Amino acid sequence: MDSDLIKKVNKLQDAFATAGTSNPIDLPQIVVIGSQSSGKSSVLENIVGKDFLPRGAGIVTRRPLVLQLINRPNSKGEVGGVALPEGESGAPAATKAVAAPSGEIEEWGEFLHLPGQKFTDFSKIREEIERETDNKVGKNAGISPQPINLRIYSPNVLTLTMVDLPGLTKVPVGDQPKDIEKLIREMIMKYITKNNAIILAVTAANTDLANSDGLKMAREVDPEGLRTIGVLTKIDLMDQGTDVVDILAGRVIALRLGYVPVVNRGQRDIDTGKKISASLEAEKNFFENHSSYRTRAQYCGTPFLARRLNVILLHHIRNTLPEIKAKISQGLNKYQSELEQLGDPMGDDDSNNMNVILNIITEFTSEFRTAIDGTSSDIAT
Ligand code: GDP
Ligand code: NA
Ligand code: MG
Repeated sequence: MDSDLIKKVNKLQDAFATAGTSNPIDLPQIVVIGSQSSGKSSVLENIVGKDFLPRGAGIVTRRPLVLQLINRPNSKGEVGGVALPEGESGAPAATKAVAAPSGEIEEWGEFLHLPGQKFTDFSKIREEIERETDNKVGKNAGISPQPINLRIYSPNVLTLTMVDLPGLTKVPVGDQPKDIEKLIREMIMKYITKNNAIILAVTAANTDLANSDGLKMAREVDPEGLRTIGVLTKIDLMDQGTDVVDILAGRVIALRLGYVPVVNRGQRDIDTGKKISASLEAEKNFFENHSSYRTRAQYCGTPFLARRLNVILLHHIRNTLPEIKAKISQGLNKYQSELEQLGDPMGDDDSNNMNVILNIITEFTSEFRTAIDGTSSDIAT
């Protein structure tokens, strides 16, 4: 099944991250880029259907956040509480709260740097991201390329991996170095250069598309637009009588994967604590009742974006499977021979360390095996 395939990819990513190794396999992931305050973190939050990311005016996202969304059925065995058509591996972003009649925890977050600690209060996740960011780079607008890794388990998300990045900015503030623009560009490039990155290029609709930092950078690494999807935010802030219909129709800057217009919460909504569920409902109403969009409302908004992303991710993984499998086999051979060279560590003064290393490698090996066996049967079906 499709979602199993993506889950296995996620598992591999974790195995590498746990072992503290740089990832030898270019696993597909969705990378969110764009100018500072274009709405990147807001888009991510809406897809997850939870308040958990630091966001707002200015440079709020200051370290990359690698976010794995993992769909798990609720206690009634339903996915997102709705029946999904065959072939769809998840539900649209949450539009209702998760009731757990059994008292069983149904959605939570877990950080790689705090293993085993389940965050059920999502505002605590935001606090932890802020704390971890400040720990590394200080409170004064400093940035770091070292990622924070977070997993979210929920019946209300699609299984996919996303990366939230600091936005492009030109003028240094606070503790930021003079070459802030270059540093952020390099950070973004590191994630989007990889052929398997799916680029979510976010542009605020009340700014000129031709000047979009996100689209410009995407074009540098993906000139044909094969792995770039455009997201237009702040449609609600456009001048009366203007719309993005020409952009959606590909008449401005064409993208093969197209554009999805969305409406996120404004700063006032955030300050007054507007719920995501209310925000998604308002977004739906906005598109369904707007004279420019109502005939195509089903192709607008966050739930459509989430489904689109899942399909794109799936196709991408299918296309890159042969390469991934070859790399996994190479890795497997390499680690097996290293394992043999280590021999029996018992009796050594360093035996504890050695055991740790062996455990990691053994875990690696079984992850590789699972992925190889699992994905081959996935291909066959
Ligand atoms: P980021 O810097 O790209 O991650 O942007 P954020 O998600 O932090 O959002 C920056 C600001 O823009 C916040 O005040 C958001 O409330 C606001 N914002 C984002 N998207 C929208 C939108 O679609 N409509 C409105 N009105 N405001 C938005
Ligand atoms: Na911001
Ligand atoms: Mg942000």
